[in-house]
Amino acid sequence: MAEENQNIAALMVEERQYPPDPEFTAQANAKPGFYEQDPDAFWEKEGRDRLSWFTDFTTLKEWDRPYARWYLGGKLNACYNCVDRHVENGLGDKVAYHWEGEPVGDKLTITYADLQSRVVRAANGFKSLGIGKGTKVAVYMGMIPEAPVTLLALARIGAPFTFVFGGFSANALGSRMAEMECEYLVTQDAANRRGKAGPLKPVADQAMDMAPTVKTCVTVRRTGTEVELKEGRDRWWHDVVDGQDDDPASCPCEPMDSEDMFFLMFSSGTTGKPKGIVHSTAGYLAGVSTTHYYVFDIKPDTVYWCAADIGWITGHSYIVFGPLVNATTSVMYEGTPDFPDKDRWWDIIERYQVNVLYTAPTSIRTHMKWGDQYAARHDLSSLKVLGSVGEPINPEAWVWYREHIGGGKAPVVDTWWQTENGMILVTPLPGITTLKPGSATRAFPGVQAAVYDESGREIPPGEGAGYMVVKEPWPAMFRGLYNDDQRFKDTYWSTFPDAYLAGDGARVDEDGDFWLMGRIDDVMNVSGHRLSTIEIESALVNHPDVAQAAVVSRSDATTGQAIVAYVTLKDGARGTTEKLAELREHVGTMIGPIAKPANVVFAAELPMTRSGKIMRRLLKDVAENRALGDTTTLADPTVVEEIKARAEAGKED
Ligand code: WTA
Repeated sequence: MAEENQNIAALMVEERQYPPDPEFTAQANAKPGFYEQDPDAFWEKEGRDRLSWFTDFTTLKEWDRPYARWYLGGKLNACYNCVDRHVENGLGDKVAYHWEGEPVGDKLTITYADLQSRVVRAANGFKSLGIGKGTKVAVYMGMIPEAPVTLLALARIGAPFTFVFGGFSANALGSRMAEMECEYLVTQDAANRRGKAGPLKPVADQAMDMAPTVKTCVTVRRTGTEVELKEGRDRWWHDVVDGQDDDPASCPCEPMDSEDMFFLMFSSGTTGKPKGIVHSTAGYLAGVSTTHYYVFDIKPDTVYWCAADIGWITGHSYIVFGPLVNATTSVMYEGTPDFPDKDRWWDIIERYQVNVLYTAPTSIRTHMKWGDQYAARHDLSSLKVLGSVGEPINPEAWVWYREHIGGGKAPVVDTWWQTENGMILVTPLPGITTLKPGSATRAFPGVQAAVYDESGREIPPGEGAGYMVVKEPWPAMFRGLYNDDQRFKDTYWSTFPDAYLAGDGARVDEDGDFWLMGRIDDVMNVSGHRLSTIEIESALVNHPDVAQAAVVSRSDATTGQAIVAYVTLKDGARGTTEKLAELREHVGTMIGPIAKPANVVFAAELPMTRSGKIMRRLLKDVAENRALGDTTTLADPTVVEEIKARAEAGKED
């Protein structure tokens, strides 16, 4: 009983398995035997082969827990590695980005040579405004070509940046700029979103009022929406950049130290103040490019599409830096997946013959909810690898993804990692790994992931769930929290003396495969049983009528916590009392009576962040009848109000 109480109950068993296709294995970048390599030798080799160094590194790593340093003594430049050297190596005509604007027909093909010329002009423009090595710059943009161009131009000069996702509020942007003491901001007038122009510059104006260190703001004209330019502070991008020299020699790539701060990515913590996660230069680039190459099986002619937003770590690592270091051809899409119709993604995949699609479970479930007919309109046979990131993927969505998008044969790589990690840490390798829907399978070579119990003992395979940890440093690991060393130590390094605490629940099955179970704070304790929200959600979504489910707990006088499930039904169906009883029974059958939700609230939509995470915190506020917390990252803020209204109506019934 004590044992049972300590570990999170992992009761649901998913038994489907998909061994690798021998044909895929024969051509795969990661071959059998890949896991047997010595981790240090592996990262040493990848660091040398994958990156170009101005000065070679002398020491692979130093680990003075919790401080890691990688590729010591090396000098390099991220922009040089992403752009210039490819042009020098004869790849100038290769496409870097097939950029697709949201308005139909708005397209741009950007070769590596074009990218270089755009980046050099932008870098010269930035320099003319006084940006130099070490100047701190904020970026607040949507998915336009100037977004990667800005990051690369800043990297070229050696200016550390923080890119704040375009869906964030003025308050969020302002506090991040103030925290980093940014002197410059690069933004755009407005961003195209579902056929409308969503203002960015007006939000940036408010944010700058909160961040007095910002002296200059550069604005890209994208939608033509009228914006105010403040004399002495605001400049148009075209005035600053367009007339600049694009000769790479006019703006050489600044040699940076391996450990120089590359960028900050703010991530919301459990408390109000966001954490400024610090990423370094060399370790980050080595980590993201190496994982990108092996996990997505990138070939010289691969067309790759990560459908995230650049404003998240997934976008930094797998739209910009990983793919560009590998000289990959990427698709970049500005808008929403349902504009003008719900087949926009599949249309893009067919037109560009995309080979790899990397997206989030929530997008997959959204497409599932819309129905397979949209994908069926298009030839998706170019797809070879499908990726998932951001949340645990429930087996139903996994199988749908493989069947309806991957033609029943594309391997689905469920990649587990975090903003702090910088790079994918636990993932299948297509060609080697036997896939199990819902499992992120194995730690990437050189990554020492494990699951600990509360006392810090490693839980052996097949013996229940606990805390996801990483025991050894990895190259792209964050180097700390900006100006908050104590929080860095307390949050990640104080729970266990010998490991990094990820904050996720997980278990390792008998075969040694990892199953991620959501955030530790998503764990509920019902009558002394610890249950993970993800398992119950997964059981609900397994029901043929359920499209999405989010499970939270509310306090309960008898059971401690009680389970509340928010459910959207397929085809917009409305919930009934019978359906409610049926769903409770279904969870009872799949997991056990203890996991039956006390309440089921039917909702038309669930509150999601724009990066696709269900905002359980908000649902919890609704369940507990509390005032709503911060909703700034919510994709559609009206959703919660509707749910609240329905939950309250339910109570009155
Ligand atoms: C969750 C996104 C299960 C997890 C790259 C983690 C996942 C948090 C997976 C980090 C996955 C991400 N399976 N859970 N494949 N990928 N997560 O910082 O809870 O935005 O801690 O980084 O997302 O989210 P972040």
